[in-house]
Amino acid sequence: MFGFGQLINILKKDPKKIVFTEGNDPRILEAASRLLAGTFLHPILVGNADEIAAAAEEAGFNIRGAEIIDPANYERMDEMIELFCELRKGKGVTPEQAKETLSHANYFGTMLVKMGVADSLLGGATYTTADTVRPALQLIKTKPGNTIVSSCFIMVRPAATGENEVLAMGDCAINIRPTEDELVEIAGETAACAKIFGVDPKVAFLSYSTFGSGKGEDADRMRHAAEKASAKFPDLPIAGELQFDAAVAPRVARTKCPGNEVAGHANTFIFPDINSGNIGYKIAQRLGNFEAYGPILLGLNAPINDLSRGCNAAEVYSMAIITAALA
Ligand SMILES: CC(C)(COP(=O)(O)OP(=O)(O)OC[C@H]1O[C@@H](n2cnc3c(N)ncnc32)[C@H](O)[C@@H]1OP(=O)(O)O)[C@@H](O)C(=O)NCCC(=O)NCCS
Repeated sequence: MFGFGQLINILKKDPKKIVFTEGNDPRILEAASRLLAGTFLHPILVGNADEIAAAAEEAGFNIRGAEIIDPANYERMDEMIELFCELRKGKGVTPEQAKETLSHANYFGTMLVKMGVADSLLGGATYTTADTVRPALQLIKTKPGNTIVSSCFIMVRPAATGENEVLAMGDCAINIRPTEDELVEIAGETAACAKIFGVDPKVAFLSYSTFGSGKGEDADRMRHAAEKASAKFPDLPIAGELQFDAAVAPRVARTKCPGNEVAGHANTFIFPDINSGNIGYKIAQRLGNFEAYGPILLGLNAPINDLSRGCNAAEVYSMAIITAALA
């Protein structure tokens, strides 16, 4: 069962540092002040120290003890520029261009992770998803063995049993229309992430069709992807293509695909594209009373995550804990 207590316990055993790229945003300052009251996750705020102190005072948050790093006077900037040029070699980046790029907190913060100054990063309170994720794609890059960075949401709501109901949904935020092979990779990563949150994954590749009931290229893509994923992850229960009702409702599953072990009981959902995924998780969030945690980026070499620009301080705090615990 998912609970923040477990993640905090992981961090208490091995405290981490997390970079916030929007150091003077009041929601970040509130979350940072809460983190500073504990000892398991140390915030690094990117920005001008005077401006951050003034913003914290105005908003009424105590951020004493927070590390503040300003790209304008960072003592290791020359080293950072050199490493940046090395990482972007072949892209024709000059040291002057690197310096300009690194004056932006999203790139600067990402390089702090790359240089090991921090373990993880959380941005996107004001930056768009693309502007938060792009520096990570370019500088942190995909893990060995992965071909793409993808994402999932962990969806949580209280169940009648008193325990939380926890689902995983991928990829609702990064890859616009994944290929069959990319869907296989997304499924493997999403299932692995689901396990971290206490889910015993049963993976459904979603479609408008259940095992050939509907015709079309997209249904074929999901069926082929499910077959490839079953071959690649023989220990993971996987089914597809499945309509959502066949995936979650045992009665519908008994009619549409009797005897299938995943159908009717799926808890890890792979969407055909970002349209269906993004709309799908938001329907669960807004109409199904699920709390949505994410997008959690999958397949990166270091944990970096993106906030929604509409986030509140409580969401910043919980995403910071999730991000750092993944480190
Ligand atoms: C992820 C995303 C931002 C990348 O967009 P982009 O920066 O315009 O993409 P580009 O094609 O210019 O690629 C930029 C770099 O990232 C890499 N990249 C792009 N997508 C990638 C992926 N899924 N995995 C790994 N690397 C990727 C590219 O190879 C490229 O690297 P390079 O500069 O070293 O050559 C884009 O896919 C996107 O906008 N997705 C939707 C995001 C969104 O709006 N979500 C909804 C809100 S949650």
